[in-house]
Amino acid sequence: MDKINSLRGMPDFYSDALISWTPVENKLEEIFRAFSISEIRTPIMEYTDLFKRSVGDTSDIVNKEIYSFNDRNDQSISLRPEGTAGVIRSVIEKKLDQQQSKFWYMGPMFRYERPQKGRYRQFHQAGIEFLGYQEGQADFELIALVCSIVNGLDIKNAKLKINHLGDKDSKIKFARSLVKFLEPYKDQMDEKDLERLNKNPLRILDSKDKKIQEILKDAPSLSDFISDSANSLLSTIQKTFGDQCIIEIDNKLVRGLDYYTGLVFEACSSDLGAQDAFIGGGRYDNLANALGGKDMPAIGLAIGLERLISISSVSKLDEKKVVFISSTSNIAPLAFKIANQLRITNSKISLDMDLTDSSIKAKLRRANKTDASHAFIFGDEEMSNKRVIVKSLLEDTEQVSMSIDECIDFYKEI
Ligand code: HAM
Repeated sequence: MDKINSLRGMPDFYSDALISWTPVENKLEEIFRAFSISEIRTPIMEYTDLFKRSVGDTSDIVNKEIYSFNDRNDQSISLRPEGTAGVIRSVIEKKLDQQQSKFWYMGPMFRYERPQKGRYRQFHQAGIEFLGYQEGQADFELIALVCSIVNGLDIKNAKLKINHLGDKDSKIKFARSLVKFLEPYKDQMDEKDLERLNKNPLRILDSKDKKIQEILKDAPSLSDFISDSANSLLSTIQKTFGDQCIIEIDNKLVRGLDYYTGLVFEACSSDLGAQDAFIGGGRYDNLANALGGKDMPAIGLAIGLERLISISSVSKLDEKKVVFISSTSNIAPLAFKIANQLRITNSKISLDMDLTDSSIKAKLRRANKTDASHAFIFGDEEMSNKRVIVKSLLEDTEQVSMSIDECIDFYKEI
């Protein structure tokens, strides 16, 4: 029979990979709690309309990358491509859109992108949303959080790019002037950039085409269209946090989701390769309104966990390991009882019960190939004497026979 493979861009994770995930996830949770942010979990599926009205139906994410299908009731459902829309849908539904809240979440997201290093079709994000806060204090707090993540996770060669998209009016004026400037260059644009020019001109600033990047050098700058207070927010952020993080004002940073309004930012690291952004975020003051809620200014970010984990040095669990070898003529239930007593005594140690039916010798050979420090051996003789043999797997010392109580005392001190 043909074997069934996983979907492209949707990797499985085994423990050798996950061993670097847990410490990073734990560290992030620790940082989120230090900022007094509460957790929220929303479903991985939502009505497709939610993403059309938030991420935007001119965005690549909704246009080309969303996983949508009709359910048995013929309603269009989508796997979430990001977490913000679901959080806002939820707070509107729970009538929390008139108060302030700070939320964090972690989980899988889905985008039908072309898979490559650092880019997957199922990937994981940790996200933060500060809801109900006007531009100002929350923006500083969120940038402080970005710096804490960069430093707390020991990310090297990181740079935080920041920009301000202005209010609705200035965004429209800038878009008009950009389109006017680019009109004469239309015949040099590829299909993708032409589409951007028609549907969402600001996204042209994101063009990867070298020719267009060259043309854009003389294009009008967003900084000439936004207010003095917006420009001063950018420079104050740069001044305030410049000692914690390298911060660059980048007037070409526009982000790929339609809901952004004011401050936007991306943290990148040159250690990542082509897909170099490991955090993206910004302010989205009109989103709650667009989703049928009250006016609710908000700002948030999401961290790409695959990318963050690949460059963080907080990545190894320092776990002690032992092996329990029970090899008796008949199955010895007492062995499992002793092993469990040991686990309760010191739950920080990982005790691997060898469940095969092989001989003590074969089990010891296997144990020696692991990074376990000790083997606890329980054979026929130990079963009748109610004792356990403890053997070091790291040092060339004599094995010791211990009573169960002695063994428990020993286990506390490993
Ligand atoms: P985003 O920039 O689309 O923003 O995604 C945030 C991060 O998720 C990216 O910087 C990247 O590290 C990671 N990421 C995105 N797509 C992929 C992929 N295909 N494979 C691997 N990693 C990926 C958002 O999602 C917004 N919801 C952020 C936000 C929250 N804005 C306000 N609140």
